[in-house]
Amino acid sequence: MLRVRTERESTAMKPPRQFFYPLASGAPAPLRELPTRLERMIHFVPPHLEKVRAKVPEVAAQVDVILANLEDAIPADAKDAARVGAVEMGRMDLKGAGFWSRINALNSPWHLDDITMLVAGVGDRLDVIMAPKIEGPWDIHYLDQLLALLEAKLGLTKPILLHAILETAQGVANVEAIAGASPRMQGISLGPADLAASRKMKTTRVGGGHPGYRVIADPNPQDMGEGERASVQQDLWHYTFAKMVDACGMHGIKPFYGPFGDISDAEGCEQQFRNAYLMGCVGAWSLHPSQIAIARRVFTPDVDEVKFALRILEAMPSGTGVAMLDGKMQDDATWKQAKVIVDLARQVAAKDPAMKAAYGL
Ligand code: GLV
Ligand code: MG
Repeated sequence: MLRVRTERESTAMKPPRQFFYPLASGAPAPLRELPTRLERMIHFVPPHLEKVRAKVPEVAAQVDVILANLEDAIPADAKDAARVGAVEMGRMDLKGAGFWSRINALNSPWHLDDITMLVAGVGDRLDVIMAPKIEGPWDIHYLDQLLALLEAKLGLTKPILLHAILETAQGVANVEAIAGASPRMQGISLGPADLAASRKMKTTRVGGGHPGYRVIADPNPQDMGEGERASVQQDLWHYTFAKMVDACGMHGIKPFYGPFGDISDAEGCEQQFRNAYLMGCVGAWSLHPSQIAIARRVFTPDVDEVKFALRILEAMPSGTGVAMLDGKMQDDATWKQAKVIVDLARQVAAKDPAMKAAYGL
């Protein structure tokens, strides 16, 4: 007989204290705070290609995060080689870059071997597992439990964090629950290619705008509607970004822009990254070496912006009250806005002496 779930059952939640118990005896305790790390670009590497793998230490020195990609773009007959290459990558000197891997989808034939090999081979070096096509909190709960069991079995002392790709319509509908599904959640990236397919959007582009998606001015009665009407291209991704950034902000995890597929369009890539940065994202994927510098430029706060933010903090040492700076009113809220920028600048300064000097920090 079918049983209708009561409201209480359907919203049942784990008691708050239990979120911070390990999910397997002997597994490391979940982190209460995310490590403070710069993650301006997540550089994708196809680990099955020996020539590309050989360049990993050199590339790692230029990026904040280096990622061994096991999922899409790795051919089915290279999945085993990619896992072996990923483990090899994780054992290299990565020059302080974070080490992540993107595993195959949970319903794919490769997924279980990806996780078990990565955790057994480089579980002590792996900072974050990027999990594609996450549909709801249940996917995160499954990964959370599996990782705890493997961590316990292997005696790991640091929990491996999880990053979800937002790339299905169902995932977007459930994004708040995904962001809050586990203390293992580090962040979420927008995956515009799979998301476009899942939503049946009519575009073959990977991220960025589309010339057909625009607003158009009314017909001009003066020319009987015959003249050309002004129109401007709009951002296809605005709604999804905003939803993702709020979900991440609500749960204290980090939002990222994902891939920009037209490698030849550096300007389009930079604008897409900048829109994401301004809206609250902390980084983006680099699919090609040329996108590393773009991501660094965009996700590093601008020197003049930092200097002005520092003046706001100096003008209001207690963080309360009102001050006027160059005709602009400052108060408790703008003090908080300034602090966001200065905190990020301090992270950049800690890593980059030239930027430290430029910011005057
Ligand atoms: C990334 O994985 C995407 O589908 O855009
Ligand atoms: Mg995808």
